[in-house]
Amino acid sequence: MRQRRLGPDAPEVGAVGYGGMHLSIEDRPSAAEAVRTIHAALDHGATLLDTADVYCLDDAELGHNERLVARALREWPGDRDRIVIATKGGMTRPAGRWERDGRPEHLRAACERSLRALGVDRIELYQLHAPDPAVPFEESVGALADLRAAGRIRHVGLSNVTVAQIDAARRVVPITSVQNRLNPFFPESLATGVVARCEEHGLGFLAYSPVGGGRLNRKLPSHPVVSAIARDHGASPHAVVIAWVLAQSPVVIPIPSARTPAHAIDALGAAELVLTPAELDRIGVAEFSRA
Ligand SMILES: NC(=O)c1ccc[n+]([C@@H]2O[C@H](COP(=O)([O-])OP(=O)(O)OC[C@H]3O[C@@H](n4cnc5c(N)ncnc54)[C@H](OP(=O)(O)O)[C@@H]3O)[C@@H](O)[C@H]2O)c1
Repeated sequence: MRQRRLGPDAPEVGAVGYGGMHLSIEDRPSAAEAVRTIHAALDHGATLLDTADVYCLDDAELGHNERLVARALREWPGDRDRIVIATKGGMTRPAGRWERDGRPEHLRAACERSLRALGVDRIELYQLHAPDPAVPFEESVGALADLRAAGRIRHVGLSNVTVAQIDAARRVVPITSVQNRLNPFFPESLATGVVARCEEHGLGFLAYSPVGGGRLNRKLPSHPVVSAIARDHGASPHAVVIAWVLAQSPVVIPIPSARTPAHAIDALGAAELVLTPAELDRIGVAEFSRA
C-alpha cells in the first residue's frame, strides 16, 4: 500500500488505516470475528490502527477495543514493529452516553488504563479525544505534554479541533496529527482550513468517518454519482468515497471502520484506487444529504 507520513518526526503508515470503533460498540461482532477483521486490515496493508478507551458499551468495560487490538496484535504473525497504535483519552461512557472529560487528572488516569489495556510501555500516538468546554484547552493539552515528557506516550494528537485550537496546542507541545471527521457528507474540515493547517505544518490528518459513519454510509450504494463512478472502476461505492477523501490532501489518512474482514479489505483497497480530476469534481459538487 502507498504510504503517508503520520506527522513530523513520526513514521510513515499505510495511506488508509483502520478504526476499531464498530468492533466494540452496539451491534458488535464476536471477539473472534473482531480479531479476524483486525487481522484482515493488517494483512492488507493497514499499519495505523485507531482505537480509544471509550470504544465500548459503557464505563464498566472501558478499554474493550484497546484489549481487542492488543489481542489481535499478539495473535498476528506479521511484523508488529511496523504497526502504529493510536488511542485517545478525554471522554467517558456513563450509562452508554458519550461525555467529555478533559481534566488533567482524568487524562493521566485514562492514559495509565490505556497502557495496561494495550499491554505496552509507551503509547505511540495519544490523542485528546475532544476539547472539554468545562476545562481550559491548554490544561488538557498540558496533561498530554506531561505524559510525553514522562515517556508514557511518544506522539501527541488532537481530535475534533478547530484551526485556533491546533495553533493553541502547538504552543504547548509538538503536535503530530489531527483527527477530525471528513467525508462528502461532512466536508467542513476542508472549508474551515483544518486540513490546510495540517498541510502547513506537516501534521497527519486522520479522517474519521470517511464513508459517512455507521448510518450515512448505507446511502452510498444508491448515490447516483458515487455508484456511477464505482461501476466505471469496478470498485465499491465505499472505496470510491475513501479514494475521494484520500485525494483531498497528501496529509490525509482515512481511518474507516468495518465489522467484517470483507468490508475492511474492500475499504483498504481504496488506497490503490485513483479517481480522475473530473470524477473528484463530480463528487465534490454532488449533493450528499445528511437526512
Ligand atoms: N475522533 C472521533 O471523535 C471519532 C468519531 C468517530 C469515529 N472515529 C474513528 O474513525 C473510525 C471510522 O469512523 P466511523 O466508524 O464513524 O465511520 P466510517 O468508517 O465512515 O463508517 C463505518 C461503517 O461503514 C461501513 N463500511 C466501511 N467500509 C465498508 C465497505 N467497504 N463496504 C461496506 N460497508 C463498509 C461499516 O460497515 P460494517 O460495520 O457492516 O462493516 C461501518 O459500519 C472509527 O473506528 C474510529 O476509529 C473517531
